[in-house]
Amino acid sequence: MTTSLPRQDRIRRALELLRHETTDKFDEIIPFEPGEFTDPILAKDERDHVFGRVPSIVAHSSELAKANDFITVTMPRNNIIVVRQKDGGVKSFVNLCRHRGALLEESEKGRCRIFSCGYHRWSYDPDGSLRTITRDSTFGDVDRGDHGLIEIPTEERHGFIWVVDNAKEDIDVAAWLGPEIDGILAEYELDKSVCFRAGGFDEPTNWKIMQDAFLDGYHIQYAHPNTAGKIIHTNVMAFEDFGRHCRFIAPRKSIDRFLEEDPGDENLDKYVTETHFLLPNSTLLRQPDHFQLLTFRPHPTDPTKSRMEQRLIVPTVEDSGMAQERWERLWNKNWEILLAVLHNEDFPLLRDSQRGMGSADAGDMLLGRNEIANQVFRREIKKLVATGRSNIG
Ligand code: FES
Ligand SMILES: [Fe+2]
Repeated sequence: MTTSLPRQDRIRRALELLRHETTDKFDEIIPFEPGEFTDPILAKDERDHVFGRVPSIVAHSSELAKANDFITVTMPRNNIIVVRQKDGGVKSFVNLCRHRGALLEESEKGRCRIFSCGYHRWSYDPDGSLRTITRDSTFGDVDRGDHGLIEIPTEERHGFIWVVDNAKEDIDVAAWLGPEIDGILAEYELDKSVCFRAGGFDEPTNWKIMQDAFLDGYHIQYAHPNTAGKIIHTNVMAFEDFGRHCRFIAPRKSIDRFLEEDPGDENLDKYVTETHFLLPNSTLLRQPDHFQLLTFRPHPTDPTKSRMEQRLIVPTVEDSGMAQERWERLWNKNWEILLAVLHNEDFPLLRDSQRGMGSADAGDMLLGRNEIANQVFRREIKKLVATGRSNIG
């Protein structure tokens, strides 16, 4: 178990790595096979033993600000509705009418006092209970308590809404995060920020190829020469492995002024990006003045498809001290830049990567020692799948 250095010391360690033109490294080079991104049996095991077992983030709390606010999410195992309750809590339900299984709510988001089924108009309260059976004198006697919406374990913590995509499991986010990451997230007070914008992208690419690209400090100057490559150093990571989750500091090019000169006591926060990998499927980026959350979800049936969501999480207008209009202009511009990099630079490369993996004779490939966050991601997903398989077998 790692004992963490204070942030300024961790940044100085990243500077030291940069001075020596090196990075923290994994123990060994690991070979891997293309089947990891194409095999339908493995994909099912990941849905069941990863997403059906452990918590993953589906939204920022501010996206469900008021009672009855809801979003719908296609999880790997269930279509769900996530709803803010009257008492301030959050619940999730399988998005399916208990009469004959129509999809209950089609909208991606909204505010709703009842969920009303389009097929025969049964309706449900936001707490999932069955409220109306239309023409119930002819339908026959139904135990309503038994036919409410099916609940999916859900918890709100550190400003995020987490679910375990399995009605039969429990959820304990603090236990899953472990004391280090739980403490780190608590410090950020992300519950006091707002999600300025959330966007989802359905891509013809395995979710792990997608997730890998957003843990990768090795591709920056090659795949993003005129954008991120101009701002962030390539292949320099001051890394911490928390056994399940991990985080790393990458120096920005603005730190170069301290390559020769000692920064003394200067606060170096603005010279780095800190990346947190939250197993199983999130990258949380701490930028000097905001956070960015990236999540990656497998498609419910097809191993070659996934959905990425991006969230820009920023200080509220009040906390920023900016006028509303300036605040909006700033974060809109930021959002547009992020989107352009994704659509023009990352996505085309990753789609083609998926096509490449489809070759019958692709052969095996390599994950280097410098690709340390990718190594941890792969190691931990393999562990979850193996544990799930052995529990069943
Ligand atoms: S399927 Fe929903 S009311 Fe019949
Ligand atoms: Fe990239």
